[in-house]
Amino acid sequence: MILNGIQLTWLGHASFRIETPAGKTIYVDPWVMGNPMCPEREKTVAKADALFCTHGHQDHIGDAVAITRQHQPVIVGIYELCAWLQKKGAEQISPMNKGGTQTVAGVKVTMVHADHSCGILDGNEIVYGGEAVGYVMEFENGVKIYHAGDTNVFGDMAIIRDLYAPEIVMLPIGDLFTMSPREAAYACKLLTPKFVIPMHFGTFPPLTGRPDELQKLAPKVKVIEMTPGVTIS
Ligand code: NI
Ligand code: MN
Repeated sequence: MILNGIQLTWLGHASFRIETPAGKTIYVDPWVMGNPMCPEREKTVAKADALFCTHGHQDHIGDAVAITRQHQPVIVGIYELCAWLQKKGAEQISPMNKGGTQTVAGVKVTMVHADHSCGILDGNEIVYGGEAVGYVMEFENGVKIYHAGDTNVFGDMAIIRDLYAPEIVMLPIGDLFTMSPREAAYACKLLTPKFVIPMHFGTFPPLTGRPDELQKLAPKVKVIEMTPGVTIS
């Protein structure tokens, strides 16, 4: 692909481990231990410099608390989610909100909109977790990756293209809780990336969308079907 020194590993669902060209380890939506698609050897986290959390649902921050207690990474998330993780023991929170940009672990990270919900299941209660978001990550080598989080397609993806022009986009395609390939194909029309990495499918039987359906509906982009645990660079 065009990763130029970035090591990218899909852990299944919306979870990615990214090694930056400078050797920092970032987890986007850390859900490994309970994630049925995550390979056994990835269920132990050896190093984490930063966690980028898109929203508070269990299938996205399922292991954020455990990883935080073990490695104290910098937590990037919307304000309310960071405050919740701080209560759970996070010592290095770096909260932000939509439209904001900050540099964490050498990555220029911009928080963007997502069309989804964001309650956090805390014991038997659902607490307010702010809003669901996506991230545009610009690495030291200039490569820009957009992780859309959980979302439906929305017209302002055109603004994300105009302002940040990410070459690589990670889009949910599973259906039911997020977009299906139909909406994701429309998202590709708005975002015009070079490469699309489908995510949030196949984890459970109801998440029925598949990468080949997206490729058929969006013939102009290259759909990269990753295998959980296999690193691309
Ligand atoms: Ni969700
Ligand atoms: Mn989800």
